[in-house]
Amino acid sequence: MKYFCISLVFLSICIINCFGNYDEWSPTYGNGKLHEKFAWKMLDWEFPNESIKNETISSGNYQPENGLPVGIEIWKNKLFVTVPRWKKGIPSTLNYINLDQQQSGSPKLIPYPSLEQNTAGDCGNGLTTAYRIHVDQCDRLWVLDTGTIGDASDTVQVCPYTLKVFDLNTDKIIRKYELQSNDTNQNTFIANIAIDLGQGGCNDAFAYMSDELGYGLIVYSWAENTSWRIHHGYFFPDPLKGDWTVGGLNFQWEDEGIFGMSLSPITCYGFRTLYFHSLSSFHEFSISTEILRNKTLALNSYHAFKVVGERKKGHSTAETMVNDIQLFNLVDQNAVGCWNSKLPYTPDNHGIIAKNDKTMIFPADVKVKNGIVWIVQDNMPSFMITGVNFNEINFRIFTIPFAEAIAGTVCDSQIY
Ligand SMILES: *[C@@H]1O[C@H](CO)[C@@H](O)[C@H](O)[C@H]1NC(C)=O
Ligand SMILES: *[C@@H]1O[C@H](CO)[C@@H](O)[C@H](O)[C@H]1NC(C)=O
Ligand SMILES: *[C@@H]1O[C@H](CO)[C@@H](O)[C@H](O)[C@H]1NC(C)=O
Ligand SMILES: *[C@@H]1O[C@H](CO)[C@@H](O)[C@H](O)[C@H]1NC(C)=O
Ligand SMILES: *[C@@H]1O[C@H](CO)[C@@H](O)[C@H](O)[C@H]1NC(C)=O
Repeated sequence: MKYFCISLVFLSICIINCFGNYDEWSPTYGNGKLHEKFAWKMLDWEFPNESIKNETISSGNYQPENGLPVGIEIWKNKLFVTVPRWKKGIPSTLNYINLDQQQSGSPKLIPYPSLEQNTAGDCGNGLTTAYRIHVDQCDRLWVLDTGTIGDASDTVQVCPYTLKVFDLNTDKIIRKYELQSNDTNQNTFIANIAIDLGQGGCNDAFAYMSDELGYGLIVYSWAENTSWRIHHGYFFPDPLKGDWTVGGLNFQWEDEGIFGMSLSPITCYGFRTLYFHSLSSFHEFSISTEILRNKTLALNSYHAFKVVGERKKGHSTAETMVNDIQLFNLVDQNAVGCWNSKLPYTPDNHGIIAKNDKTMIFPADVKVKNGIVWIVQDNMPSFMITGVNFNEINFRIFTIPFAEAIAGTVCDSQIY
């Protein structure tokens, strides 16, 4: 009997050594319970009236099966949801859900600021395609309109890349800025934006836009109403991280560079730290906004860019920060991770605040407002590869209180 036990122990040691389990990452999990707030089999839109809906259908601009939510943002009672025009029939790219009227279920998306102002190809006041968006503390909604219709090699640039900033109190565009020709290149694809408010108030604002396929970071200064493009090797993808398996589907994204970005609080030096990562990479990098904000420095500060660390099994889409805690979508894990930025960026210091292998396939965006974490999940691999099965739920928006989400994880500062 004793021999049997010993051999069992020996066997288990052998299994561990042969299959590399000793190398498994065992993250700490948060105590919070994820709440599935909204869920859709297929997206749908609200129209001003039935004759407008009929007109939209007959013109081919209403094919709800082609809608995929990619970005969210929250302001007061509005939950914004963006839907890119990758395929035909997206009536509106920038939309919202009225949270006073809709608490659950599958609400229809309401075009913002109006259906008319979501006319594709209306380069002046219209919106053609929006991806990730950002609301700042000055009640402004920052939208980078990529001006594109279609996806990947089918993309048509019908309008120039234009930053459009809305005043959320009046629903009017208060700033329109077309990117300069030298801000982009022939490969440019920008799907994310970060907003840096400095100590100087609402006028002291900068936008950082990550060029995922052109490998650059474009800085826009609100005060100077001008922009510049930064180049760095850290904006490229890692050639060893181009193989993806998500929700059982395998695909290769080998070209996807700088994407996720988040900003730290203002430090005692008066600036923030911009954290960023490429989509096809497990590495996290950083740069001080003191460098980004100064064009001269931005173009001549190779060594100011820092390697922060590496995630384990860690492709990540969007990331965000609440004080010193960073949240990031862990796509391969069907999860959202966390990291306390006061600790080294190592797998040991990465926790998981939300995870679900059935309902969280491809978390696409994560935001925190008023102590609540919001996550949108969109099944993107099915959408791209096999086609979406509309008999089941495909898109979800989750909420979880931030404090509960990180409680019990290595990110909870109370542990230290
Ligand atoms: C529908 O809405 C449009 C635009 O708001 C308006 O011009 C039209 O008169 C409305 N039609 C009906 C039947 O209410
Ligand atoms: C819209 O189309 C439906 C179905 O074809 C039709 O029954 C309805 O009368 C139309 N409504 C308007 C206002 O044109
Ligand atoms: C900002 O610059 C753009 C293009 O260079 C120009 O069209 C716009 O009027 C400017 N806005 C302000 C507020 O100066
Ligand atoms: C980009 O173009 C603008 C306008 O033509 C020019 O002022 C600026 O110096 C150029 N930037 C770079 C980095 O060459
Ligand atoms: C930008 O940095 C350069 C080089 O350090 C410095 O000379 C310049 O004054 C800075 N510009 C601003 C606007 O701070």
